[in-house]
Amino acid sequence: MAKRVVLAYSGGLDTSVIVRWLTERGYEVITYTADVGQGEELEEIPKKARQSGAVEAIVEDLKEEFARDYCLPVLRALALYEGKYPLSASLSRPLISKKLVYYAEKFKADYVAHGSTGKGNDQVRFELSVWALNPAIEVLAPVRSWEFKAREEQIEYAKKHGIPVKVEKEKPYSIDRNLWGISVECGPLEDPWTEPPKDAYQITFSAEEAPDEPDILTVGFEKGIPVSLNGRKYNLLSQLIMELNTLAGKHGVGRIDIVENRLVGIKSREVYEAPAATVLYEAYRDLLSLVTDRFTFHYFINHIPHEYAKLVYEGLWFSPLREALDAFTATLAESVTGEVRLKLFKGSVSVIGRRSDKSLYLEDLATYSEKDTFDHKAGELFTKVWGLPLKIKGLLKKKKQEFRT
Ligand code: ARG
Repeated sequence: MAKRVVLAYSGGLDTSVIVRWLTERGYEVITYTADVGQGEELEEIPKKARQSGAVEAIVEDLKEEFARDYCLPVLRALALYEGKYPLSASLSRPLISKKLVYYAEKFKADYVAHGSTGKGNDQVRFELSVWALNPAIEVLAPVRSWEFKAREEQIEYAKKHGIPVKVEKEKPYSIDRNLWGISVECGPLEDPWTEPPKDAYQITFSAEEAPDEPDILTVGFEKGIPVSLNGRKYNLLSQLIMELNTLAGKHGVGRIDIVENRLVGIKSREVYEAPAATVLYEAYRDLLSLVTDRFTFHYFINHIPHEYAKLVYEGLWFSPLREALDAFTATLAESVTGEVRLKLFKGSVSVIGRRSDKSLYLEDLATYSEKDTFDHKAGELFTKVWGLPLKIKGLLKKKKQEFRT
């Protein structure tokens, strides 16, 4: 019986060559392609996969599952890797891995395969996810071991075997795109001193090109789920995110240029575009802080965003830690109902207003007008007790000095 493998297939050169390469080595290849909002037509994919040698080609629309089960938890954790990257590429790998395992089990395949290199983070995310879900499945990563050194060799191989290759001149970048964001690497970006060329950006305008007038945007949340933009309700979170990408991208919001630490030890220069994620993080953070008591909010903000981002980046999506952190953020999300008003202008997004029935802001306590009900006497006594440790320290210091003189 032929060895059967389910391959994560994008339809690009690498994964098309992998289909043929595995076929030559005795594997029966089933390709799996997911629509996670990469903005590409996937209709031609099955034909292309078969032309490359696949026996079966599966294409699925995962946009809503990706938005609900992957983007939303990351938003609720306000997770940003190294304080900046909203984890777009890191998030799609566990979902694709889950599907690879599902279809491997369904088609009785002992193997799954991916097209990641040995130098990146994605190999780790694919492999850890597959092992967590079904450790009996073996993961193949042909790019790590095959004979091709340069892209030209792959093109030659593809031509020789009748694999369709796009003739148009390709951009010098490696691009990974889904509805949560785009990551761009390689080419001129490899010099971290060089400003990203215009064509590195796919969905955002520069601040210079952005409109000279701001847009005011209202984002509505229900129990921690973004549900409306400017009063318009969205039943599908994926739709809301894609619409927001357009609205905020127009103003140049969500461009991120960083040198980040990869899992494999190297630093790499990355350019990201995540307009919707950037706006939603701002809005969510603001509303969460409005409806959450100080103790809980401080605990959350000091611990969760960093820890959550690290675990997603490092391939631990299918871990008890992630589930436990999700339970924590879901509890807080229960109160995140309300609206946030934001201003989008020349590459920036700023919160300019917020309201919620769950708000803990009490105007009669906060006001400096005659309506003030705050007990100022209590403030005096509180300050005395709160400052006592520093006062004691000061007193002793003073005593010592007096003793010396
Ligand atoms: N550095 C990012 C990450 O590890 C993006 C990787 C995207 N992959 C790519 N082939 N461009 O999540």
